[in-house]
Amino acid sequence: MAKSDNTIPPTPSAEEYAEKAAKSPDDGAWFKQVDPLALFQEWFEAAKASEPNDPNAMALATADDTGFPDVRMVLLKGVSFKGFDFYTNAESRKGTQLDRNPVAALCFHWKSLRRQVRVSGPVFNVTDEEADAYFHSRAKDSQIGAWASQQSRPMEGRFELEKRIAGFAAKYGIGTTPRPPHWKGYRVVPTRIEFWRDRPFRLHDRLEFTRANADEDWSRARLYP
Ligand SMILES: Cc1cc2nc3c(=O)[nH]c(=O)nc-3n(C[C@H](O)[C@H](O)[C@H](O)COP(=O)(O)O)c2cc1C
Repeated sequence: MAKSDNTIPPTPSAEEYAEKAAKSPDDGAWFKQVDPLALFQEWFEAAKASEPNDPNAMALATADDTGFPDVRMVLLKGVSFKGFDFYTNAESRKGTQLDRNPVAALCFHWKSLRRQVRVSGPVFNVTDEEADAYFHSRAKDSQIGAWASQQSRPMEGRFELEKRIAGFAAKYGIGTTPRPPHWKGYRVVPTRIEFWRDRPFRLHDRLEFTRANADEDWSRARLYP
């Protein structure tokens, strides 16, 4: 009988951890950071330089009005002191959940850096001007696709989608494609941002920033791994 593969990677050995520890000295200065957005920007720049693709990919967690959780990946399309922005179809599963329960959590995991950032807070729509500007920066085919896709609803087959794409391409092929009213930008205004970095023996570094709302100053805490 063929031996079955152990597909879970093995836990690092003591030697591997020791090698890692030598490359990753304790850095007390890291815990003195006071501005989580500045720290996020710094890590994001490092991720852009080292991730093989989509350094702006983030898991977006939402919950329906009964509290049942849901999660999927989306792309970060704007980040500033105002918050973390992404774009999607407001009639999708996540759009419906956010409509009823406008709070969300985000999680970035940059494998090449062995770092994680968690963000959570209330969710608002970006302005129509901001959404229009981003929509019109996208490729024409993506704009048509936003009209054609009835995101998260059942679809008979690819042909049905292609027919819809052809229909909207004929309608909006010439001139500016308007932004579909159901295609919106969302902003997670952070009330909690946690930075995590890998350290040997699973004794990781964690730095948490919290505030009651966007008008308050951030508080900081170092957390047990
Ligand atoms: C790396 C990655 C990035 C994605 N980015 C987006 C995005 O920015 N907006 C979006 O609507 N869907 C995006 N998707 C697709 C979503 O994960 C999801 O399939 C879709 O939005 C429907 O989710 P929902 O049914 O929970 O609404 C992305 C998927 C992956 C894997």
